Amino acid sequence: MNFYILTLFPQMVEEGLNTSIIGRASKEGIVRIETVNIRDYSANKHHKVDDYPYGGGAGMLMQAQPVYDAWQAVTKRIGKKPRCIYVTPQGSVFQQQKAKELAQEEDLILLCGHYEGIDERVLEEIVTDYLSIGDYVLTGGELAAMVMVDAISRMVPGVLSNEESGMAESFEGNLLEYPQYSRPEEWRGKKVPQVLLSGHHKNIEEWRRQQSVLRTRERRPDLLKNANLTREEQELLRESFTKKN
Ligand code: ADE
Repeated sequence: MNFYILTLFPQMVEEGLNTSIIGRASKEGIVRIETVNIRDYSANKHHKVDDYPYGGGAGMLMQAQPVYDAWQAVTKRIGKKPRCIYVTPQGSVFQQQKAKELAQEEDLILLCGHYEGIDERVLEEIVTDYLSIGDYVLTGGELAAMVMVDAISRMVPGVLSNEESGMAESFEGNLLEYPQYSRPEEWRGKKVPQVLLSGHHKNIEEWRRQQSVLRTRERRPDLLKNANLTREEQELLRESFTKKN
C-alpha cells in the first residue's frame, strides 16, 4: 500500500513513521510512505505558501495553488487519483472501522493543513474524505496523518507478525481488550488472577471475555450499545451494576 502525504513538514512525518512496526513494514516494502513537500510547489519566488484570508480574521491560510500542484504531481506520476484525505478537526472522527476500510485501498493521499486552514477551492477540487482524529485542535495535520497511517498500516496484511495480529484487540466487536499480566506472579503484593495460571483454556477464554465486557462498561459504556452480548453477559452487567450501586 502506498501513502502520499502532502505536508509542509515532511521531516516530521518521516521521522515519526520510520521506527518500530511501521518502520519495519516500510523497509520490507509492504507499505510505502512518501512525503511531498507542498512548499516545493510554490510558484512564489520566496517559496511562500500562505496568505491572508479574504474578509479578514486571524491567521494565514494555505493557498490553493501549491496544494493543488503538489496533489497533481502525485496523481500524474502514478496515473490515478486515489482517495485524498484532508486531516482536519472538521472531519468525521476516524475510528477502527475506517482504518480497516482504508487499508483496502492500494494508494491514499493525505493532506496536512497548517495555519488557519486551506483555501476552500482546492479542497473542493481534490479532497474525497474529511477526517479528524478527535475533538481537539492540533497545531497542524501531521500528527493526525501519522496516527491514521499507523492505524491503517497495521490493518494491511503482512504488516503485523502472526503473533502481533493474533492478539485480541480493543474495539473488536465494540469491546475493549481484557487486562493482561506477565511475570512475576506476584508484584508489590498484587497477584495474577488465579484463572490465568490454571492452564484451563476455556475458563481463561471466558474470564477474558467477561473482563472485556466489564471493562467496556466501566471505561467506554458508549460502545456497549453496538456490542453483541450474550444473555449471560447482559446478566453479568446487570449483576455488577446492582453490586456497585
Ligand atoms: N488538524 C488539527 N487538529 C486536527 C484533528 N483533531 N484531527 C485531524 N487533523 C487535525
